[in-house]
Amino acid sequence: MTRKYLMAGNWKMHKTVKEAQAYVETFLPLVKEETEREIMLAPSFTALYALADLLKDTNVVLGAQNCHWEDEGAFTGEVSPKMLAELGVTYVIIGHSERRHIFGETDEVIRGKIEAALRHGLRPIMCVGETLDERVAGDTMVVLERQLREGLKGFSAADLKNLVLAYEPVWAIGTGKTATPEIAQEAHAFCRKILSDMFGDDFAQSIRILYGGSVKPENVVGLMAQTDIDGALVGGASLSPESFSRIVCFGRET
Ligand code: 13P
Repeated sequence: MTRKYLMAGNWKMHKTVKEAQAYVETFLPLVKEETEREIMLAPSFTALYALADLLKDTNVVLGAQNCHWEDEGAFTGEVSPKMLAELGVTYVIIGHSERRHIFGETDEVIRGKIEAALRHGLRPIMCVGETLDERVAGDTMVVLERQLREGLKGFSAADLKNLVLAYEPVWAIGTGKTATPEIAQEAHAFCRKILSDMFGDDFAQSIRILYGGSVKPENVVGLMAQTDIDGALVGGASLSPESFSRIVCFGRET
């Protein structure tokens, strides 16, 4: 089974609308030959509308960093998947470790958000990953299994055909400490085994699992060479069009 690489930039809380527009103008020519890999940019909510226009008819799709689980209602400060779908957003990151750990999102909340995203035709990028304490305690696989089983409880394989998973070890996010390709591969293979157990092997083999955590132009090749790594979710190194384009086009540089 061949899975198409998804190279995804998560800008987190960076870039104004003007900065986002300037980035895209530099970035698009740098990646325009890259048609075999999917490319995604997830700006702040405030820049989505402007970027939707600039990315129309290009090889780069738009992602959002979060969404609510309801379509509308009295939820001050929240953005619904219905609003994102209207803008032409393709992917939505759900359950990022910063959402789990800073904003207290639980597996149950994450499940509701995945359900809401799918209802509006958005492709969820569900994030899982252990903290340093959990890894040191030997609990990595227990945590990953719980996040997957709880977050995906009640769905069928057909419901989840547009799901993307992202393994982001919390200790590797923004720290400059990347998981070695072997550590990442072990966690990815484990996640795929759990997906196979939950939804069958055909499903598990079809789902892309991205790696995230200090991905850079210098380490992307080794990570992407692993059997179960199908792309990258990039924070810091996606903030510069030059470095993100080198990540997107890994292995193709002359
Ligand atoms: P960094 O690439 O900055 O470590 O962030 C990873 C991440 O959290 C992407 O979602």
